[in-house]
Amino acid sequence: AVSRVPLIAGNWKMNLDHLQAIAFVQKLAWSLADAKHDFAAVEVAVFPPFTDLRSVQTLVAADKLPLAYGGQDLSAQDSGAYTGEIPGGFLKQLDCGYVIIGHSERRTMHAETDEVVAAKVQAALRHDLVPIICVGETAEDLEEHGPSAVPVAQLKAALAGVSSAADIVVAYEPVWAIGSGQAATPEQAEQVAAALRATLAETLGEDVAAKTRILYGGSVKAANIAGFMREPNVDGALVGGASLDIDEFSSIARFQK
Ligand code: G3P
Repeated sequence: AVSRVPLIAGNWKMNLDHLQAIAFVQKLAWSLADAKHDFAAVEVAVFPPFTDLRSVQTLVAADKLPLAYGGQDLSAQDSGAYTGEIPGGFLKQLDCGYVIIGHSERRTMHAETDEVVAAKVQAALRHDLVPIICVGETAEDLEEHGPSAVPVAQLKAALAGVSSAADIVVAYEPVWAIGSGQAATPEQAEQVAAALRATLAETLGEDVAAKTRILYGGSVKAANIAGFMREPNVDGALVGGASLDIDEFSSIARFQK
């Protein structure tokens, strides 16, 4: 069996400016080091706003922190007349390892279609960034189509043009569980994660399916992380609100199954 290194990722959304980010990342690293966190056993990543990334890069490099980081979005284009956009090349220059793509907040508030998401996945891969492809159904989708149909369709669309050599991460975030305090049950997360893994096997082959990490996101906290991590197809979490609290996020990263 292939063993997948769990990934605990903190999506800060539009919180913490570049000065707050420096203090936060420093304290988070201390908290994890203090607890003797084994970063090789559980990878930890943060996703700050774009304006913070240069500060985070400087700190991580200067202190040789074992933290990964990345952008919350990127442009599908590489350069040009796209006011307000940030290309993958700029993220790569700041040593980002990952980039979140297709978060439900981008899909709903910024009209990101499946086609846009697929183009952004291509842009990330062009720049050697690992895309964290977010998929998830709304409460209405769930009622109408059942648990896996919408996430599976979103994943298929996002993978258009992706080769089996690509390094990707998938995040299952049911929209109804985001910021609601109402997390999915571990069983619900597992059911969809298993369907997503089957989709990876169908589209990119068994090897990719076996090595790709599938995260759960939506009201994850220290008190419920263990249940998710016990599920065979859940390989980590994409954490929103709880990633803004150092002790809480650090405990999530140090989950005990
Ligand atoms: O990307 C993470 C996210 O959408 C989940 O947010 O606040 O429910 O953990 P939250």
